[in-house]
Amino acid sequence: MDKKLDWTHPEPLWKRTADLPSFEKLTEPQDTEVAVIGGGITGITTAFLLAKEGKKVALIEAGCLLNGTTGHTTAKVTAQHGLIYHELMDHFGEDHAALYYKAQSDAITSIENTVQELDIYCEWSRQDAYLYATTKEGTRKIEKEREAYERLEIPQPMETHVPFDAEASSALAMTNQAQFHPLLYLSALIEEFLNLGGTIYENTTALKVQEKNRIEVETDQDVSVTCDDLVICTHFPFHDGRGFYFSRMYAERSYVIAIEPEHKWEGGMYLSIDEPKRSVRSVEYEGKEILLIGGESHRTGEGGDNLFHYHALEEFASRTFGIKSKLFQWSAQDLTTLDKVPYIGPIRKDSKHIFLATGFRKWGMTNSRVAGELLTDYVMGRDSLYKPVFIPSRFKADPSMKEFLKNNTNVAAHLMEGKIELVGTRPEALLKGEGAVIQWKGERAGAYKDEHGELHVLDTTCTHMGCEVEWNSGEHSWDCPCHGSRFSFDGEVLEGPAKKPLKKIAYSDTDEVRHLPNEDEEFNEHSDQQ
Ligand code: FES
Repeated sequence: MDKKLDWTHPEPLWKRTADLPSFEKLTEPQDTEVAVIGGGITGITTAFLLAKEGKKVALIEAGCLLNGTTGHTTAKVTAQHGLIYHELMDHFGEDHAALYYKAQSDAITSIENTVQELDIYCEWSRQDAYLYATTKEGTRKIEKEREAYERLEIPQPMETHVPFDAEASSALAMTNQAQFHPLLYLSALIEEFLNLGGTIYENTTALKVQEKNRIEVETDQDVSVTCDDLVICTHFPFHDGRGFYFSRMYAERSYVIAIEPEHKWEGGMYLSIDEPKRSVRSVEYEGKEILLIGGESHRTGEGGDNLFHYHALEEFASRTFGIKSKLFQWSAQDLTTLDKVPYIGPIRKDSKHIFLATGFRKWGMTNSRVAGELLTDYVMGRDSLYKPVFIPSRFKADPSMKEFLKNNTNVAAHLMEGKIELVGTRPEALLKGEGAVIQWKGERAGAYKDEHGELHVLDTTCTHMGCEVEWNSGEHSWDCPCHGSRFSFDGEVLEGPAKKPLKKIAYSDTDEVRHLPNEDEEFNEHSDQQ
């Protein structure tokens, strides 16, 4: 059952402190040189860079601009993407790892150049980034990563220390990284894109792609966009193009809280590497320095009671910084590829005019700029050093194959589990604002009771490939553990790859509800099935 949160704003700080323009739906067929689908940081950056090159660009967004992962980030602009360089060196070799680092570092410089050229006020500030360990095992990993930094000549300060976590036993810094307010930055890019002749349509969902002489994108508005080049920046690609992206990525959710701390902040951006991971950075809000604290990642649909995760972050914040006031709380969804490197480039090896960018893990600020520049190079027919690093058609065995098998075994397990699961909540037992999996006429179903007491009952079978969705009590959504699709409490698609809503069930309280097992019986059933 849902518990209540007592945060002042159950929404991202960024949205509350930036004004974003809104745009009409697409109503007339469009003919353009480039169609960019997806109005997050990657789509906007790419559209802006292509318009700067003189291309005629139309940007299409299914909902409102910047309402997805970009609006929910912690907005660290850094090449320090967790423990990655040692792993990249092992998996791809030193040259490849060096290119990955250089691409991210160049992205920071490019963003800073744009901030300066357009004179954008977005709280841009250079900060050092730190990884830190609190266990022996974590310290061992940090030392391996340090060796990778030395080999790749990544600059490090002489001394590092973590000023707030008494348990921190070792740390690894990357100097001169940055942080900013992503929506202030992107609203300036949107304005400049429009000045350059770009067009934007919101509330227009791209549904289907027809590859003819030119490319035709069908939308839910019964009108199409015809273009020479199509760039897909929809987080999960809305068009798979036989690239099987759903089997080559997995979705994770993570959580952020914003607090006013009791103690003064000494600066820097931090990420602990032991479990449970914690991410910390500061931001200015109403003239005060407040802290964003993130962590508690889990596979989508597998996190149990989501409110537990906010409480865990709050407990860490209270113990580590003291809490003067609790301000914001929100969550985000990120996609990770098999080898942790984003897919940026042609949707298939042989595709010359359809490109995509996805799978940024949690590092979308620099990766979106890398994607914007690379996608622009592809459309303009230019070469780039970085193309081979990010090309989506790459596939190297181990660890890619191991991850591939793990992901798809996980999907198969969820497909089975959902079909044989016994569930215990009666719909009439739900309180207002609560949701749960129920049994209805012997079938698994999902129910949510809204603030007016109306029950919304749905078939919990995901419309993507048939796994069973789970209730997310923090976000009041139905989340699929297989490939990360998310649906609103009344079944509408919030995030793909699913394109169709969950099936609604006409429920009345006179309908039969089967006898349901108590919790112990339910546990035993599951145990027997292992
Ligand atoms: Fe693929 Fe649900 S997202 S089955």
